[in-house]
Amino acid sequence: MSEKSKDKLPRLLRGMKDILPQDQSQWDHLRQKVKAFATSYGFSRIDTPVLEQTSLFVRSVGKGTDIVEKEMFSFVDQGNEQVTLRPEATASIARAFIEHGFVNQPKPVKLFWMGPLFRHDRPQAGRQRQFWQFDFESLGEAHPVVDAELILVAYTIVRELGLEPVVQINSIGDAQDRERYKKALVEYFRPRRNQLSDEIKKRLQRNPLRVLDAKEEEVRILVQDAPQIVDFLSEEANKHFVKVLEHLDELDIPYVLNPRLVRGLDYYNRTVFEIWPTGDDTGQLALGGGGRYDGLVESLGGQPTPAAGFAIGIERLLMKMREANVPIPQPETPRIFIAQLGEASRKKCLKLFEDLRRAGVSAVHSLAKDGIKQQMEIANRIKVKYTMILGQKEMIDGTVLLRDMDNGIQETISFEKVIPEVQKRLERSVLKANRTNVPYA
Ligand code: HAM
Repeated sequence: MSEKSKDKLPRLLRGMKDILPQDQSQWDHLRQKVKAFATSYGFSRIDTPVLEQTSLFVRSVGKGTDIVEKEMFSFVDQGNEQVTLRPEATASIARAFIEHGFVNQPKPVKLFWMGPLFRHDRPQAGRQRQFWQFDFESLGEAHPVVDAELILVAYTIVRELGLEPVVQINSIGDAQDRERYKKALVEYFRPRRNQLSDEIKKRLQRNPLRVLDAKEEEVRILVQDAPQIVDFLSEEANKHFVKVLEHLDELDIPYVLNPRLVRGLDYYNRTVFEIWPTGDDTGQLALGGGGRYDGLVESLGGQPTPAAGFAIGIERLLMKMREANVPIPQPETPRIFIAQLGEASRKKCLKLFEDLRRAGVSAVHSLAKDGIKQQMEIANRIKVKYTMILGQKEMIDGTVLLRDMDNGIQETISFEKVIPEVQKRLERSVLKANRTNVPYA
């Protein structure tokens, strides 16, 4: 094939990743743990479609945000509908809350969600165009104890998965507080405009709060002396924030008051927080984030429903767990290989393979291969404990050879006894392994 035609071959899209077989056990481990956490904290699972009306995200995440402005995978479908691959889950959960009448259920309605999301971000380590999140939402209660419970859940999950998270927290008040604050911020930057890039000037005009979490060093320096939103909170918002912090103190959850934390989605009010990995002091690769969004459900046509939630990025979490050498269970290697020689033996072996599976033993084989040597090489490579060998002689005798791959000892076992014998030996070797291995916590 010419180089030119190779260029045209379909390839993985930029920013997308395959999750390969060798990584599946880590993913399964994490997903199972998170599901167990959700159940133990009383959150019920909800799944929503990958595709939603574009207007859902424009109304909720907000027109002027990076996600809506630059990052959505949107297209017009065959029915001429403007649709978008979901860039986040909260909006979809709020939509489902309204459409399925959750408002009539006892409050708070505690929902848990897990799935892939799509953002046309600039790909780099920890930043993909398809990535996974798990997401916890608590809808129906305005009390600060809800915010604290969510922070407790986010913090504990990350911690019990083996990392040392840092909770960054701020309050962005209510809409009127933010309006007053935005004016003060614009006022502060006015005499300093010549020190700002065009991009930051644009932000200051369209979404001044986003200037606070700008990554550029010169802006970060200016932001240090800028007015802080906590000084603009109404008495109510301030009380709410203090109560959240008191709960965190009571729970012994360490947090950093971060006046620059504003989050990149428009639906938040009052408490906002992020979970940063230890050692990250910019939040560029935050593990997760969330906050209160009391106006979202109503803005999507539902009844006024105070709510709060958070989401954690699974790829980032796994990346940090690997970096920190957190023990993650390795895939279970198959324990028995079936090797055969000759056509009749091949037939018998496919049958034995199925009989073993029915008896709860998952074996591996290379039944399409002819040479015994080749098959034994494969058995060695995948490091099975036993190989069952069925050659021409065994076929005539109605027996198999069971070879212990650790010491090379071979036993002859009759066809009738082979399944229970294999079961027995494998159980024994598992018991032995469990005695010598430190169990995974
Ligand atoms: P978010 O801060 O946009 O919040 O995303 C939460 C987490 O998703 C991030 O901290 C990060 O771990 C992960 N994440 C975001 N973008 C990417 C990406 N391009 N590649 C890899 N990981 C990524 C939300 O999505 C809100 N819906 C959270 C929320 C729930 N607020 C209230 N309820």
